Amino acid sequence: TSTYRIATIPGDGIGTEVVPAAQQVLDAVGSRHGIRFDWNEFDWSCEYYARTGRMMPENGLEVLAEHDQIFLGAVGYPGVPDHVSLWGLLVPIRRAFRQYVNLRPVTLLPGIDSPLRDVPAGGIDFLVVRENNEGEYSETGGRLYRGTPEELAIQDSVFTRRGVDRVMRYAFDLAQCRSGRLASATKSNGIIHTMPFWDEIFRELAAEHRDVETSEYHIDALAAMFVLDPGRFDVVVASNLFGDILTDLGAAIIGSIGIAPSANLNPEGEHPSMFEPVHGSAPDIAGTGAANPLGQVWTGAMMLDHLGHPQAAADVMAAISSVLADTGARTPDLGGTASTQEVTAELLTALARTEVAA
Ligand code: NAD
Ligand code: IPM
Ligand code: MN
Repeated sequence: TSTYRIATIPGDGIGTEVVPAAQQVLDAVGSRHGIRFDWNEFDWSCEYYARTGRMMPENGLEVLAEHDQIFLGAVGYPGVPDHVSLWGLLVPIRRAFRQYVNLRPVTLLPGIDSPLRDVPAGGIDFLVVRENNEGEYSETGGRLYRGTPEELAIQDSVFTRRGVDRVMRYAFDLAQCRSGRLASATKSNGIIHTMPFWDEIFRELAAEHRDVETSEYHIDALAAMFVLDPGRFDVVVASNLFGDILTDLGAAIIGSIGIAPSANLNPEGEHPSMFEPVHGSAPDIAGTGAANPLGQVWTGAMMLDHLGHPQAAADVMAAISSVLADTGARTPDLGGTASTQEVTAELLTALARTEVAA
């Protein structure tokens, strides 16, 4: 049996609803693959902030470092400014553990209709590699000038050669393992310092990887192409902010933001990686039982893959597909009426059936 110490941070809102759902599914699939999860739960959240004035304890990162991986729901809730909650927990974890790759699959699952017209089954299947440690999300250069009618806010964007190079190399390697096509999201026509530098590094790496067919899209045109012709993409590499926006769009075209998975990877494995869905804490539906657990569950499959258990991950994906295709159990975001718990129960039933078949 392989045992993993997983730090869980359910966080806020629906995070506290979908994380336990995914844990049940992972425990169930683990038991038939000789995988044991030793879950260690932390209540770090906006509620914790209200109590303590911090999103996590001072030694929070050291505590997390003692775990194999981190499984997170979402943080952020009305009452605490988002920049406080996110920069008090999520962003520091991504940075401290050098999780510089944010891998976000955009795959249309069997049984789900894309909101786009005329997308055949399997017609959307690509990966967004989002830079996760620098770029437009920066702490430096912040200046706010008030006191005159011409108030002014300024903030740096930070693109280092090392930071851009490493995430792009990851994307090139990934493209080589797939169908060999890599698209880069740029905006070098409008953002005239950082983005030409981004393009320069992309082109250098393209010259090193002749077997990868590369293309460059301005981010605005790329967003349109996600809608008009998503089938053309295989791997897409993007900066932090562009990748953030593209992946909510990606989630939308595969049916719902409630199903899209995401992994914050430290590719070298020197630190824990963090697995959290694309969606947030959804305060608008928190507590109603309407949260779709599939994004968190699929994220769990990504964790299994990362831990070196592709068959267990495939079982989770098969259970998701069978629930979507064979049962009516769908949460309202997918047009159904089922609750988080009902969908979770169907997933567990589907897994149990796989066990009999195996
Ligand atoms: P959101 O993803 O929480 O919600 C956007 C919309 O999608 C809402 O209408 C919501 O109901 C719906 N939705 C999201 N997940 C769903 C699910 N699993 N099932 C069904 N419907 C779902 O984005 P937001 O409203 O911009 O942000 C809300 C809070 O979450 C903010 O505080 C934000 O900063 C935070 N946030 C946190 C993370 C994270 O911790 N990883 C990610 C994104 C947003
Ligand atoms: C995400 C979220 C975060 C991000 C926010 C909450 C800081 O939107 O993980 O996609 O922009 O990285
Ligand atoms: Mn986002």
